[in-house]
Amino acid sequence: MIDRTQVGIIGAGPAGLTLALLLKKQGVNCIVLENQSRAYCESRVRAGLLEQNTVDLFNELGIAGRLNKEGLKHEGVIFSFNGERIRVPFEELTHGRSITIYGQQEVVKDLIAANIEKGVPILFGAEVYNIKGIETSPVAFYQQDGIEHQLSCDFVAGCDGFHGISRQTLPADCYKTYSKEYPFSWLGILAHAEPSSDELIYAYHERGFALHSLRSEKVSRLYLQVENGDTIDNWNDEKIWDELAVRLGTKGFTLNRGKIFEKGITPMRSYMIDNMQYGRLFLAGDAAHIVPPTGGKGLNLAVADTRFLAEALVDWYKNESDDQLDAYSANCLRRIWRAQDFSNFMTYLFHKQAEHGSFEYQLQKSRFDYIRLSVAQATTIAENYVGLKAI
Ligand code: APR
Ligand code: PHB
Repeated sequence: MIDRTQVGIIGAGPAGLTLALLLKKQGVNCIVLENQSRAYCESRVRAGLLEQNTVDLFNELGIAGRLNKEGLKHEGVIFSFNGERIRVPFEELTHGRSITIYGQQEVVKDLIAANIEKGVPILFGAEVYNIKGIETSPVAFYQQDGIEHQLSCDFVAGCDGFHGISRQTLPADCYKTYSKEYPFSWLGILAHAEPSSDELIYAYHERGFALHSLRSEKVSRLYLQVENGDTIDNWNDEKIWDELAVRLGTKGFTLNRGKIFEKGITPMRSYMIDNMQYGRLFLAGDAAHIVPPTGGKGLNLAVADTRFLAEALVDWYKNESDDQLDAYSANCLRRIWRAQDFSNFMTYLFHKQAEHGSFEYQLQKSRFDYIRLSVAQATTIAENYVGLKAI
């Protein structure tokens, strides 16, 4: 079957779904093609840190009802170095900007519901296997229930994540790749345990990094640095809790334990391309960039890209202007590079990379002490953590 729309969006993750809503609000039609089922998209557990800009955009879109009720607003964060703690009061240091903890799968549920309510077609189980004609008149070829379809569009938005087809469709010589694999991974758990701290704790420990986060008053989200290649079978629940208790430990702190209901290991990488568009194909989100999770930037970057892309497409439809479309990659890349640098900084600050007491360790310790000693350094961290307003 051959269908037609203005913007064909590949992927129903945060990027594709936010873009669809932004376009719909401005009267631009789109169809979202997603190869997984709705249930799969809504249950995929990922990070859950929303910058102020992201919360503001969801409010502007009128989809923040549950987020404002159930999301947990934070005004500060705790950094720990071998048991010594510092609090960075980011709200105070950034004149009132904050972050909100709200699981990505909750964001995805809200976005899917809003798109359906507003009449945006989301085709689940629709796998795009080819995109042709990206210079002038793109067509997305997809398969659904074993039947082949074509979607002709004015533009294709490649919001199909790191392993998607969109980036592979860009001509290989139109972008440069930057990539960095880290020599460690994150073991993440969700547990029915009352959070042990109201605020997030990022901890360096001589046994490795640990992060205390949360999802609600009854659910904790915690992470441990593990070696690449480690498997979840090596980590029974007791071993995970014992290791978290050691790495997050400080005088007077008790780690609340509870039933672990989700656990997994994820490798860490930084990945960039320096051009996110070609002809009528535009990439957004993980399709174009990956940051290590230390700093929680992934979802926020995906959403920030879509704001630029929606504005540019609307400008094309309403004013027949190419200017914003031409500037799309450059506009996104400024924020993405800032986030790459900050995520890399946080990763190197808190992960064990070399022997305790080594030169590398002394630098980490000095960087940690500097946050305590310098309001300027604490402010730099704060404004990157909550996300720069405009960039
Ligand atoms: N056809 C259709 N859909 C596809 C295809 C394809 N060929 N390939 C991938 N997809 C879908 C995936 O199933 C997924 O649902 O594209 C979607 C991409 O969503 P995400 O991976 O969530 O990417 P994005 O929307 O950019 O959001 C980035 O997700 O990985 C986290 O940390 C990251 O928080 C960040 C966010
Ligand atoms: C999370 O809650 O999942 C989370 C929070 C902060 C991070 C990464 C993940 O830096």
